[in-house]
Amino acid sequence: MSISFTAEELRKIDELKSRYPDSKAAIMPVLWMAQHKWGWLSEDVMRHVGDVMNLPYAHVKGVATFYTMYFKKPMGRHHVQVCTNVSCMLRGGEKLLDHVTQRLGIGNNEATADGLFSIEEVECMGACGGAPMIAINETFYENATIEELDRLLSAASVS
Ligand code: FES
Repeated sequence: MSISFTAEELRKIDELKSRYPDSKAAIMPVLWMAQHKWGWLSEDVMRHVGDVMNLPYAHVKGVATFYTMYFKKPMGRHHVQVCTNVSCMLRGGEKLLDHVTQRLGIGNNEATADGLFSIEEVECMGACGGAPMIAINETFYENATIEELDRLLSAASVS
C-alpha cells in the first residue's frame, strides 16, 4: 500500500501548520488525520508524517507513543473505550470492562479477528460526573450500563 496524503490533504496540513507560531505544533492534528486515513500509525505512516511535517521520525514516534489515542497497531472499526479511573471504577467501570472483554473474547488493547471491535481501558475521560463513562470511537456515553453497552455492541455489529 502506498502511503501518501492526497493533494487536498496536504493543503489541509499546510492550513493546520499556519495556525501555530511554530508549525511543528500541528503534529497532533496531522497524526490524527493520518490515523483516520490509514486506521493506525504504522512506521511507514509515521515516517510519511515526518516527511510532510519536516520533522524527524523520532519526534513523530515520540508524540505518537506518548498519547494512547494514537494507535500503534491495527484496532477495530468500533473502538470501545471503558474508563476505570476512580469515579468510574466506583460506579461500575470495571464491571463494564469485564463484560465487554468476555462478550468480545478479547483483552485490553486487542482487536477481534474480524477487525470489527477493539477494547481499550482508559484513564479519566474528563466527565466523572457522568461515571461510568464509555466511548465507541469518538461518541461518548455517560452513566453507562451493561444493558446499554450490549445494545451499542449489537447495533455496531450490524453497521
Ligand atoms: S474517572 Fe471516568 S471519566 Fe473521570
